[in-house]
Amino acid sequence: MKNPIGFFDSGVGGTSIFKEVHQLLPHENVIYLADSKNAPYGEKSSQRIIDLSIKNTDLLIKNQCKLIVVACNTATTNAIHVLRENYALPFIGIEPAIKPATLQTKNNKIGILATKGTLSSKLFSSTFKKYVNKDIKVTEIEGKKLVEAIENDLLNTTEFKSYFFKHINEFKKQEIDSLVLGCTHYPYLIPLIKEFLPSVKIIDSGFAVAKQTKRILERYQLLNKSQSTPEIQFYTNTKLDVLNCLLQKHNSDFHQFHLNYLDF
Ligand code: DGL
Repeated sequence: MKNPIGFFDSGVGGTSIFKEVHQLLPHENVIYLADSKNAPYGEKSSQRIIDLSIKNTDLLIKNQCKLIVVACNTATTNAIHVLRENYALPFIGIEPAIKPATLQTKNNKIGILATKGTLSSKLFSSTFKKYVNKDIKVTEIEGKKLVEAIENDLLNTTEFKSYFFKHINEFKKQEIDSLVLGCTHYPYLIPLIKEFLPSVKIIDSGFAVAKQTKRILERYQLLNKSQSTPEIQFYTNTKLDVLNCLLQKHNSDFHQFHLNYLDF
C-alpha cells in the first residue's frame, strides 16, 4: 500500500525515530509533522497533550496515512490510549526503555532522563512498577529546558554544555551504568552525554520502534511493495531552519526529502 506512514512529535525530536524507521523500511512514503509551535509538550497538562495529539492525528489521517508513529514519549505515555480508542488505524508508540535497562545493568543502578509529562504519566508508572524490582536503584532526572535547547539549535553553545552537565550530574554521583533516553529529542544529546558519562551505556528505543512498525505493517498487509524512491514530506509550524539543519547534518542516507511550512 502506497499510502504514507505518518509521524508526529512536538518538534524535531521524532526525526531520531523517523531515521530508524526509514532505514528499515526505505521504500515507505512518509509525512512527518513537527509541532514545534507547541513544544515542549512535556510541560503541558495531560489533557492538552491529548488534544494536540488528536489535532496531529486528524491532519495525518486527512493526508491518507495508513499507520501513525507517535514519535514522542510524552504524547505516547499521555495520549496513545485515547488515539487507539478513537481511530481505526494502527498506532506505534514509544516509551522509555525501562525493561531493557533493567536487563542490561551490571551494577543495578540505572538513570532515566525524560520530560515531566512522561515521568508523571500513568503509563510510565505502571511500566516502572512492572519491571523495576527493589534491588535496582533508579535515578530519574526531568529534562528541563533540553527540548527548548534542541529546538533552538543551542547544543553547541558553552552555556548549554555547562548547564547540561550540571543538570545530569546526579547520574554521575549515583554511578549509574545504564541511561534510558526517555524523549525522542535526546538522541541529539548523545555526543554530550558520552563526553560527560563516557562509560555509561545509553539505551534508546528507536530501533525497537522501527521493528515494531515493520511487524505491524506486515501483519495488516500495509507494506509498500513498490521499490521506487519514496516521497518524504516534513511539515513544521515554525521556522524551517532547525529542522533543515538537523536533517542535513545527521542524515547521510535520505537526501531526497521535502521540507514545508504549514500552519497546523
Ligand atoms: N520528543 C518529545 C518526547 O519524546 C519531547 C517532549 C516535549 O516536547 O517536551 O517526549
